Amino acid sequence: MSGPILSASGLNLRFGAVRALDDVAIDIYPGEVVAIVGESGSGKTTLMRTLSGLQAPDSGSVLYTGPDGVTEDIQLMSEAARRRLMRTDWGYVHQNPRDGLRMGVSAGGNVGERLMSVGARHYGDIRKAAIEWLTKVEIDASRIDSMPRTFSGGMQQRLQIARTLVTHPRLVFMDEPTGGLDVSVQAKLLDLIRALVAELGLAVLFVTHDIAAARLLAHRILVMRHGQVVEQGLTDRVLDDPQHPYTQLLVTSVLAA
Ligand SMILES: Nc1ncnc2c1ncn2[C@@H]1O[C@H](COP(=O)(O)OP(=O)(O)OP(=O)(O)O)[C@@H](O)[C@H]1O
Ligand SMILES: [Mg+2]
Repeated sequence: MSGPILSASGLNLRFGAVRALDDVAIDIYPGEVVAIVGESGSGKTTLMRTLSGLQAPDSGSVLYTGPDGVTEDIQLMSEAARRRLMRTDWGYVHQNPRDGLRMGVSAGGNVGERLMSVGARHYGDIRKAAIEWLTKVEIDASRIDSMPRTFSGGMQQRLQIARTLVTHPRLVFMDEPTGGLDVSVQAKLLDLIRALVAELGLAVLFVTHDIAAARLLAHRILVMRHGQVVEQGLTDRVLDDPQHPYTQLLVTSVLAA
């Protein structure tokens, strides 16, 4: 039995009077999909940013175990080492695709650039990989030279996913990857994410408002409220037999909606 790929404990973070993280602990195992759910302002994005080293906590630690079995505290890593990790072993899919794409670079360039950042140099290979990944996320290869701003929101999000996954990261953070999209587009995108996650054996931590998305994708669910993890467990257990009153409210209000 292998240990967690990411292990965080005792995370605390205040923004003025707001406790954005209140003694949060989380473990993520290789190949595991974990959903973070909770109301707006409960600290979901702050947790993702803290776990991925984009935001330093006031206290607590985040330990990452690499493919070589070496465990490192990401707070103690240099900025350059953290950035390298974000290009190689990790990926981050932002809620707004504009934050994860280079809008002034073509679709193929967005995918190719990520590959070049990990050392790919051969133009033909890069273009081939870009076409392969555009096809995987159901963007027609004929759009390879189009600019992302000419894409719909759903296409931009699929392009961001291609750009993130092309380097085969082991751990991917997704902050509401289907937020702000039409319901029909959301459903297709969730299916695509589910297929890619299974194919690549990714560990994924994803934030969602959508209990149905959590049910579809996640092995485990973490429920946040006011910066605290109020409940966590296997997806079916949490959704079918919620223990915390807030989770009960969350689950029933969704059913009633
Ligand atoms: N940079 C910041 N400066 C000040 N306060 C912040 C900052 N980032 C987050 N907060 C506050 O921390 C709390 C948690 O915010 P966070 O963005 O993590 O919530 P969230 O669960 O992701 O919400 P949403 O579902 O709306 O995205 C909120 O009260 C927010 O206003
Ligand atoms: Mg958020």
